[in-house]
Amino acid sequence: MRTGRTENPLLQIKGLNSWYGQVQILHDVHLQVHPREMVCIIGPNGAGKSTILKNVFGLIAKNQGEILFEGKSIRKMAPEKVVRHGISIVPQGRSVFPSLTVRENLELGAYIRAGSESASIEQDIRKIFDKFPKLKERQHQKAGLLSGGEQQMVAIGRALMIKPKLLLLDEPSLGLSPQMKQVIFEKIVEINRKDGIAVLVVEQNARLSLALSDYAYVLELGHNRLEGDAKRLLKDKRVAKLYLGGA
Ligand SMILES: Nc1ncnc2c1ncn2[C@@H]1O[C@H](COP(=O)(O)OP(=O)(O)OP(=O)(O)O)[C@@H](O)[C@H]1O
Ligand SMILES: [Mg+2]
Repeated sequence: MRTGRTENPLLQIKGLNSWYGQVQILHDVHLQVHPREMVCIIGPNGAGKSTILKNVFGLIAKNQGEILFEGKSIRKMAPEKVVRHGISIVPQGRSVFPSLTVRENLELGAYIRAGSESASIEQDIRKIFDKFPKLKERQHQKAGLLSGGEQQMVAIGRALMIKPKLLLLDEPSLGLSPQMKQVIFEKIVEINRKDGIAVLVVEQNARLSLALSDYAYVLELGHNRLEGDAKRLLKDKRVAKLYLGGA
């Protein structure tokens, strides 16, 4: 782990309970993301992984506990305010505006952040194109015409236009070919390692996400089950049995 987990966490979740209507989904959940860290959450379908990200992003109406970002409570904040504090999200599923062009999708990301000048927007779009050259070629095409992997690049690019300190990614490789999964994850690692943006990623592909993350949490039925150095969890017999096909 590169950060040692000794400095103050960027994101700190403590004793988080969360409900949809009367049904409690998260039970006393804790989680930390430190500056420059890549952290993953793994666990079976319905464990509450997406619900954790939604709590951080202000999308859950009924919750209890602590969600601190840079030491300040964001638990009751609306998404547009959470964004201004430096958190962006790539939600589960293709989250592009299909009838807008690739470039328009990226520009939308910039408008969400405060006080953007068009010159700086242009500069930021150029940086996204440097990272995803495919998007430069396709910039004037409707995003809905792109392949699944390319659409995921647009969604990630749009989230980066906000210039986040913390990027939340929900199942970024879902439904992509093995090769495209690898490409997307390489980019996520680059965003984390090279650009220094902290990443909290929820991922079905436990092997891939554990191999690339610094720290990992295993969530089951809305409870923390296991956590630790991601590479160590990759070798943990319990994790292997449950999530790595018994390997
Ligand atoms: N909007 C909603 N209203 C009611 N229940 C919901 C809602 N969204 C999710 N749930 C329920 O909350 C539980 C946790 O869902 P969540 O989407 O957080 O799980 P997950 O770990 O992300 O699963 P998956 O791997 O399938 O994406 C599930 O039982 C789900 O059915
Ligand atoms: Mg989910």
